[in-house]
Amino acid sequence: MISHITIHPKILYYGAPVVLLSTENADGSTNISPISSSWALGSFVILGLGVGSQGLENLKDRPACVINLPDAEMWRQVEALASLTGKNPVPAYKEEIGFRYEKDKFAAGSFTRAASKSVRPERIAECPLQLEAEVRHIRIPEYAESFAIVETEVVQVHADERIAIGDRYVDPKAWNPLIYNFRHYFGLGEEKGKTYRSET
Ligand SMILES: Cc1cc2nc3c(=O)[nH]c(=O)nc-3n(C[C@H](O)[C@H](O)[C@H](O)COP(=O)(O)O)c2cc1C
Repeated sequence: MISHITIHPKILYYGAPVVLLSTENADGSTNISPISSSWALGSFVILGLGVGSQGLENLKDRPACVINLPDAEMWRQVEALASLTGKNPVPAYKEEIGFRYEKDKFAAGSFTRAASKSVRPERIAECPLQLEAEVRHIRIPEYAESFAIVETEVVQVHADERIAIGDRYVDPKAWNPLIYNFRHYFGLGEEKGKTYRSET
């Protein structure tokens, strides 16, 4: 029997894939925001973004993005962006925890630019999965005004051919997402099984 205790964790990041979110800055350049708050509902992807982020500001004014999904081996490139913001000046609370302004996140993370097909922000060529998406709704909840819930609709999916099975499936044995687990980076372990609805 498990014996549970009550705890008061500072964070509740219980393990979610890292997304590198491309958005368009006012000057037409592309910003990249690392996030882990996202989930898919059919062809829609819901994102959780802090109101102090440049990514959110961009989505309010230019409502399209690319949801780039890095492979687990790319964690150092993600971490190279962890203390950077595209927002200038840097918000005071971010400056206090060591953030600095960076205009060129592609250079900072050693990423390669790739033009998108249906949206204006650029894709990150190294990411095996890239979802081009349009923003459908942004909500700042009245109970937590420092976060926004951004609803997007995926309009185009790009997959590394090595993880694709035909054009309808992603091979879960070949795709290795980067998991953000209580502020530590992990890959996936061995497969445990599959759901009765799996077709691969
Ligand atoms: C692995 C990782 C996951 C993160 N997850 C989120 C998240 O889900 N939502 C969020 O708003 N910020 C998240 N952050 C913090 C943002 O990266 C940070 O706010 C950054 O300033 C965003 O860049 P921007 O200001 O240029 O948009 C995360 C950072 C890292 C490194």
